[in-house]
Amino acid sequence: MKLLVTGGYGFIGSNFINLASQSNYKITNVDNVTYAADKNNIRVENINNIEIDIADYPNIEKTILDFKPDAVVHFAAESHVDNSIEDPYIFLNTNILGTYNLLQACSKLENNFHFIHISTDEVFGELGKEGFFNEKTNYDPKSPYSASKASSDHLIRAWQNTYGFPATIVNCCNNYGPNQHKEKLIPKIITNCFSNKLVSPASSTSTFLIICLTTTSKCLSLIFTPCKR
Ligand SMILES: NC(=O)c1ccc[n+]([C@@H]2O[C@H](COP(=O)([O-])OP(=O)(O)OC[C@H]3O[C@@H](n4cnc5c(N)ncnc54)[C@H](O)[C@@H]3O)[C@@H](O)[C@H]2O)c1
Repeated sequence: MKLLVTGGYGFIGSNFINLASQSNYKITNVDNVTYAADKNNIRVENINNIEIDIADYPNIEKTILDFKPDAVVHFAAESHVDNSIEDPYIFLNTNILGTYNLLQACSKLENNFHFIHISTDEVFGELGKEGFFNEKTNYDPKSPYSASKASSDHLIRAWQNTYGFPATIVNCCNNYGPNQHKEKLIPKIITNCFSNKLVSPASSTSTFLIICLTTTSKCLSLIFTPCKR
């Protein structure tokens, strides 16, 4: 089985590759190595790493049509909320245009495939002290990051509805674990503790649901069986 992974040098993508490679898949990783990437995150051999930008359509199309994946697992994104508030443009370019490019290129595949789009629960906005989100929750993004992820979800939904595009959207909550960039909450708290800096992770009204990354990687491995078009 051939897997095309986008954003495989990042936090979740690299953990997914490290786990999936135990199952003898042929894996191609597409990543343009932004500040969030670390090539050392991938700790296994035999991964075909290609350094291209998902916003670059000709290269993306060529890579996908040459490789003919059975499954595409799409992690590549600009993912830090604070950065999206400072400069939203790159979030729109990567998260929306990049996802559109993948949809268009995959639509040209002649083989069966399954597209797994890794999104976030932040597209649903914020929960109060109680409750939960599910697939029927209304979209209510609160930041440029979550708006760009919500836009990419809507593209996937529209392609499913209009063209029968074979996709699954995963709206997972915050993850923590190995390979996570130091800008994120738990690594930041730990780094601050080591340098004796004041730790103020959240306002008193904020609560975070954070799950262990191993759980996410294992769940993802269960859902990428190819489906018929
Ligand atoms: N980390 C979390 O807690 C969390 C929670 C919910 C959803 N998500 C989603 O999961 C996915 C992965 O998150 P992460 O925390 O591993 O992200 P990350 O920021 O650690 O890694 C992103 C990877 O994508 C690559 N990338 C960025 N722009 C690219 C482009 N234009 N072309 C090719 N590659 C590009 C980067 O180089 C990096 O390797 C994202 O789509 C994110 O929205 C993350």
